[in-house]
Amino acid sequence: MSFSLSEQTEAKIDQVMQRYPEKRAATLPILHLIQEEKGWISDEAQNYVAQRVEVPPIKIREVLSFYTLLHTRKIGKFHFQVCRTVACTLRGGKSILQHLEKKLGIKSGETSADGMFTLTEVECLAACEIAPMLQLNDDYIGPLTPEKLDELIDGLK
Ligand code: FES
Repeated sequence: MSFSLSEQTEAKIDQVMQRYPEKRAATLPILHLIQEEKGWISDEAQNYVAQRVEVPPIKIREVLSFYTLLHTRKIGKFHFQVCRTVACTLRGGKSILQHLEKKLGIKSGETSADGMFTLTEVECLAACEIAPMLQLNDDYIGPLTPEKLDELIDGLK
């Protein structure tokens, strides 16, 4: 499958490349630009970046495995990232996740068939003071209860 980007993104990537004498140093900024346009980093996108920065594709996959903010699968319009680390778990994080799974009709790691919702478990988001919490797109929300979740989801529909 061929991979292409908008002219604007290509131009931004060219600019980024000029900023780094060593091409591979441009890897992360390029990945962010692609995610900004496409919403995620497909295999084709990974190969494209590998070519641009002149490294084997496996190096790009290694980078992606470190950065949970970069997605290697399609993400729904609303991305729920539920914290599963200690502070949130002790305050009911597991039941928050189960409630979301039931309400959205998807399991952790899945995206709904209509492309609206993605549910992911993540490690501590450094917002333990509002545990149990989740990140919905760019917003941190907590402390959560099943009732608050219902309100939140109903407000999105
Ligand atoms: S443990 Fe959930 S935000 Fe820190």
